[in-house]
Amino acid sequence: MPTETEERIKIAVQKSGRLTEHSLDLLVRCGLSYSRGRDQLICYGENMPVDVLLVRDDDIPGLVQEQVCDLGFVGLNIVEERRLSLVAAGEKVEFDVLSTLTFGHCRLSFGVPEEMQYSSSEDLAGLRIATTYPAIVKDYLARNSLNASVVKFSGAVEIAPSLGKADVICDLVSSGSTMRAHHLKEVETILESEAVLIGGSEETRGSKATWIARLLQRLQGVLQVKESKYIMLHAPRSALPRIAELLPGSEAPTILPLEGRTDLVAVHAVCRENVFWETLELLKEAGASSMLVLPVEKMLA
Ligand code: PRP
Ligand code: ZN
Repeated sequence: MPTETEERIKIAVQKSGRLTEHSLDLLVRCGLSYSRGRDQLICYGENMPVDVLLVRDDDIPGLVQEQVCDLGFVGLNIVEERRLSLVAAGEKVEFDVLSTLTFGHCRLSFGVPEEMQYSSSEDLAGLRIATTYPAIVKDYLARNSLNASVVKFSGAVEIAPSLGKADVICDLVSSGSTMRAHHLKEVETILESEAVLIGGSEETRGSKATWIARLLQRLQGVLQVKESKYIMLHAPRSALPRIAELLPGSEAPTILPLEGRTDLVAVHAVCRENVFWETLELLKEAGASSMLVLPVEKMLA
């Protein structure tokens, strides 16, 4: 176990849930190797002054707010709930979203009993809404000048209507199967969410600032290459303008001569977006052949 705990960066990650694996995987791709502590709640970084705390996702904004952790990987839904409840209590918000992370997409939506007539949010007036996101729901109601009561649940919101504890719910939806299984229909989305990285303000970083900046830069690189592809192909010189047009998100492709061929060249390019079969088919129509698409592992601008 490392001794100099003072200067080490602490990152909060969801203990077990949808975001856990992706979050740890991102850190590994930023170069971190770690060993899991005996209690399984801390991962000690072995090659960087970085430790990962595995905690309940709902606690993550609070841990950053209190400066127990420097960074956190968490759903925007949880960040927004904490931010709005601090604002409502007149307290200062001490964390910011530093980056979106392109995974963990879901939405916070109202769900109403299947048989209920629903045409607009005005139909919520006077109803009881069960949710684990009271601050977000109250903010939504206030912004839309709607009067409804919010019943705070700490989980299993979807059973509230059948228990008679609420008329409708507001909960996270990903595939939609939970709402369907409870005979609820999703009628209105109030927040689109995905995993984000949060952190305290730059002034609070002190001697950790260098490593935090380094980590953030690596993270941007990792996120950028996630979709990026390296493409190689052969093409007639005359087809180059059309081919350059078709390559998604590539700046300046490298054109290389092919031994013994004056009509044909090799084209190499980094595409900043995924290259789909449709694109390859169009490239072929434009005259390209011998196409090869490779994943990009690292990128540093
Ligand atoms: C959410 C939500 C639902 C479920 C919806 O819980 O509360 O139970 O996911 O997903 P579906 O539309 O794919 O069925 P989550 O797993 O995020 O757990 P938590 O709210 O307890 O953190
Ligand atoms: Zn949770």
